[in-house]
Amino acid sequence: MSLLDTFYLYVTQRCNLDCDYCYFKVRSPISNKLSTTEMIAVLQDVSLLKPKRVVFTGGEPLLRKDLIQLGQAFKDIGIEIRSCLQTNGTLITEKNAVRLVKYFDEIRISIDGLEPINDALRGTGTFKKVMNAFWYINQVGGDPRAFITVSSFNLPYLKELMLFLLNHGIVKIHLSPLRVMEKTSDETVLFKREELKRIMVEFWRETLGIQLKSEKKEEFNCGVGKFITVYPDGSIYPCHLLAFPKLCIGNVKEVRLSDLYLHSYLMNKLRKLDFRELAQCKECFKGLLCENQCLGSYTRERGLKEQLVDFLID
Ligand SMILES: C[S@@+](CC[C@H](N)C(=O)[O-])C[C@H]1O[C@@H](n2cnc3c(N)ncnc32)[C@H](O)[C@@H]1O
Ligand code: SF4
Ligand code: SF4
Repeated sequence: MSLLDTFYLYVTQRCNLDCDYCYFKVRSPISNKLSTTEMIAVLQDVSLLKPKRVVFTGGEPLLRKDLIQLGQAFKDIGIEIRSCLQTNGTLITEKNAVRLVKYFDEIRISIDGLEPINDALRGTGTFKKVMNAFWYINQVGGDPRAFITVSSFNLPYLKELMLFLLNHGIVKIHLSPLRVMEKTSDETVLFKREELKRIMVEFWRETLGIQLKSEKKEEFNCGVGKFITVYPDGSIYPCHLLAFPKLCIGNVKEVRLSDLYLHSYLMNKLRKLDFRELAQCKECFKGLLCENQCLGSYTRERGLKEQLVDFLID
């Protein structure tokens, strides 16, 4: 079994939208972006690790003119690895849908609400474009998934959005909570996650009579160490929420990602990281021991970057 679960390739920092909450646009501009050849070399290299899936993301990946070429090159490697495209959907057309579906096994399209909510969060006119995108992908036999970023703004309207999606044949729906990138005093962010769980349990019981069981977590961390992220300039991080300069483990222009993933000190430490050990060493991480905590967002919300870096690279 591969150690690597998911490889996230940020193909561009550019975007045609300007969502207020976007974690990626708050980064300083990235220069020296990887060429097509360099991207393909990374994909070939990472395929040696046989991850479960590779996610092409950004910025808006469809702004990269060679996106289809990258998707095709990845398929041509010929190893069974699921390729996923994460997009805002606004640039999907009847014409490009066929090729997108040919080269990407899964197309993840972001949507945050019905028209007024979605357009307030993601930009005027985006809801209609996104619904068209789902339709185009469905028409050519693709596997679209709705990706909803849940915040206090759309939480009260989540059930109606999910019902709307199900009624439109969009049955694969993924929810992820909004992550703040800097220290916040807004404790409601944490409270809302509990509220989200309650709403989901209610939704599935009311619509399909399904009783969600709360999963017992066997893991001793959030999964950190099983992922790897490459930014458009080739810099490598454990994940997007741990993309602190001091946790940059190298650049694909200088090192082989596969070697680094398997042998770097930081990745080995993260793979073995037990949150109980972290909480014992640094008292301020005690709260991480509650279920389903994300190390990156916990660290950012509480302004614990220095303490974490200290623990990880000491
Ligand atoms: C960064 S975007 C890149 C791909 C594409 N532009 C899109 O919007 O799908 C990937 C996903 O991250 C979500 N996202 C952006 N900022 C976020 C944040 N601060 N917390 C949680 N999810 C966020 C977006 O809503 C989107 O679903
Ligand atoms: S479309 Fe995606 S990358 Fe662009 S601003 Fe919105 S969330 Fe960020
Ligand atoms: S820190 Fe958060 S984003 Fe990073 S691997 Fe853990 S859950 Fe995922």
